[in-house]
Amino acid sequence: REEVVTLPVVVHVVHNPAVPGQDIGDEQIHSQLAVLNRDFRAANPDREKVPPVWRPLVADAKIEFRLAAVDPEGEPTDGIIRVATERRSFSFDDAVKASATGGSDPWPTDQYLNIWVCQLGGGLLGYAQFPGGPPQTDGVVILHTAFGTTGTATAPFDGGRTATHEIGHWLDLYHIWGDDDGACTSDDRVADTPNQADANTGSPVFPHISCGNGPNGDMFMNYMDYTDDNAMFMFTRGQVTRMNACLEGVRASFLV
Ligand code: ARG
Ligand code: ZN
Ligand code: CA
Repeated sequence: REEVVTLPVVVHVVHNPAVPGQDIGDEQIHSQLAVLNRDFRAANPDREKVPPVWRPLVADAKIEFRLAAVDPEGEPTDGIIRVATERRSFSFDDAVKASATGGSDPWPTDQYLNIWVCQLGGGLLGYAQFPGGPPQTDGVVILHTAFGTTGTATAPFDGGRTATHEIGHWLDLYHIWGDDDGACTSDDRVADTPNQADANTGSPVFPHISCGNGPNGDMFMNYMDYTDDNAMFMFTRGQVTRMNACLEGVRASFLV
């Protein structure tokens, strides 16, 4: 694809007023948008850390993210919705995505990328819905302390990469290890990412070999692994091809 696609974003900040910090500031939201706009254009400065053998694979997804300027009624907006909740925390169950369950209803999910930012329990940093799921729960959810690079963002997840990873899923990318718990039997359906056994965490040292993928080993610096924010800094050409197919297929409503 030649042209850059711009995705309108609405951020739902769902916060409990009794718990300080959850009502994150505009600056933290803007810091997250800035990260996305670097990572999906391969303009992130840390791409220099990609091992030389994989540099030719680093790819520009040609996607930009812009806080919505017009709401579903056609009125001007800053693309940020703040909703108070009585819930102290949310989970993987999508309650944050509906006002009836203490969350915030989505804007039309075929026109806006909905991002819910809230407290999440159980060590969950975020989760996404893959393309093709129910419209009323489409979008991504991010823990507020793993969102953006300022405010409540907390190391080692203060680089904005949780949203990069979750939006990767939203655009049809699978985990780079194929979610097969070390079996090496299933992969991410992307040819240029090495088959890898399991998730990597922290900040691994190159090379980390698994599934007979030597000498270069796992591409643990890929956004679709589970490494720390400052240890992940690339999408590949094959991954961008999958994201493009999604945008031209299931998510084609964003192209008009
Ligand atoms: N869904 C993953 C989790 O909750 C997100 C991992 C994001 N990784 C990161 N370095 N930010 O664990
Ligand atoms: Zn994931
Ligand atoms: Ca692969």
